[in-house]
Amino acid sequence: MSPDPQKTFYLETFGCQMNVHDSEKVIGTLVHEGYRQVQTVEDAGLVLYNTCSIRDKAEQKVFNRLNDYKKYQKQGKKFAVLGCVAQQEGEKIFERAPYVSMVCGSASYKNLPQMLVQIEAGNQRVTGLDDRETEDCFETEFTARTNPHRGYITIIEGCDKFCSYCVVPFTRGKERSRTTESVLAEARQMADLGYTEIQLLGQNVNSYKDPAGKRTFAELLAAVGEVPGIRRVRFTTSHPRDFGRDIIDAIDAVPTLCDHVHLPVQSGSDRILNAMQRLYTREQYLDRIAWMKSAKREISITSDIIVGFPGETQEDFADTLSLLDEVGYDAVFAFKYSPRPNTPSLALEDAIPDEEKIRRLEVVNTRQRAIQTANYKKYIGAISEVMVEGRNEARAQWMGRTSQNKTLNFTAPADAPPTIGSYVQVRATASFPNSLLGELVV
Ligand code: 5AD
Ligand code: SF4
Repeated sequence: MSPDPQKTFYLETFGCQMNVHDSEKVIGTLVHEGYRQVQTVEDAGLVLYNTCSIRDKAEQKVFNRLNDYKKYQKQGKKFAVLGCVAQQEGEKIFERAPYVSMVCGSASYKNLPQMLVQIEAGNQRVTGLDDRETEDCFETEFTARTNPHRGYITIIEGCDKFCSYCVVPFTRGKERSRTTESVLAEARQMADLGYTEIQLLGQNVNSYKDPAGKRTFAELLAAVGEVPGIRRVRFTTSHPRDFGRDIIDAIDAVPTLCDHVHLPVQSGSDRILNAMQRLYTREQYLDRIAWMKSAKREISITSDIIVGFPGETQEDFADTLSLLDEVGYDAVFAFKYSPRPNTPSLALEDAIPDEEKIRRLEVVNTRQRAIQTANYKKYIGAISEVMVEGRNEARAQWMGRTSQNKTLNFTAPADAPPTIGSYVQVRATASFPNSLLGELVV
């Protein structure tokens, strides 16, 4: 459909990679419906806000932002709230922000074209709030990917794990896997368009089950890695309980599968892991780490940590610190526990004072920084293949990423600049806690 100059939209996105990719699909859908994307709220007829509710006072932040939008309502703009806060707060959003005319959770995006028609017809209360039991996936051929070289593919939506702190099973519904055939068709199509890196996405990719019954996650991973033209395949996020050794076997067997695994541990204390309903022990987690460490290639391991979960004692916290030392992660994303609506741990008293949570967070980050400083130092002198991602003019450096997902900034001769999206060899000459510096090998 050709764009109608009257139909313009502005979309703002918060949250995880799933949300970022959902937005790419929402944009593709809107464009297919004849809308044109604009870069400011002022220029837009329809303002969409894709929200995240994972931590902190997410709902409050959304309502504050909607308040900022209030001033535009007289100009006849329409507002839509999408994503996890939309699903969580539902029709309450209309009560608190009456100028919003659409509230839609991620499990209902496939209905967006009909919902857009309703908004245009002047309906003030358009909802897409499918419940947790929905079987629907948001598959579309109109994904508007922003990067021409690397792109996401959703393989599984929703989550059935119910970790006691986590809002996702309530905002994204139950687990639904796409068929292997449809994932592979999308990968082939991306390869034809020139993409060389694919990142498979899901809240828990390890519990992927081909609805046609053909392939496991590890088999799907290997099959995507074998699509001609694809040079790198990543996947996120993994859950230790479902992380099988066959994934490491696949990484060993298929060179295009990146040597990086993000395996969130959340805590190093068995008592806290149990209270979090994580369904594994420290020892079982460390078994998986041992598989990775015995792989043929060195696998870079990264994780998420929550500090200050209800009842976390100094001893429990010390267990988390010792686990950081034992694993030697290349990156850790650490968060202060925050109580979330609907979650089982909401019933537990959030008694650890914020100052103590902040202190624990700082201790984790300081410890982890020292670990990474040592890890990254080992690469000085080594040559790695990087995919060139950008240029920092001020520093006269190029930026690339290794298969291990490490950032490698590098210099290159002015008369032979690398092209964005190409793969080049870079020798590391200096290291930092989060990146390497190097020079192009010519
Ligand atoms: N409080 C703090 N951190 C949380 N995470 C998820 N839920 C919460 C919460 N209620 C963190 C976990 C997860 C990451 C995406 O966000 O570490 O792995
Ligand atoms: Fe945020 Fe979780 Fe929703 Fe992603 S799935 S947008 S992290 S609440």
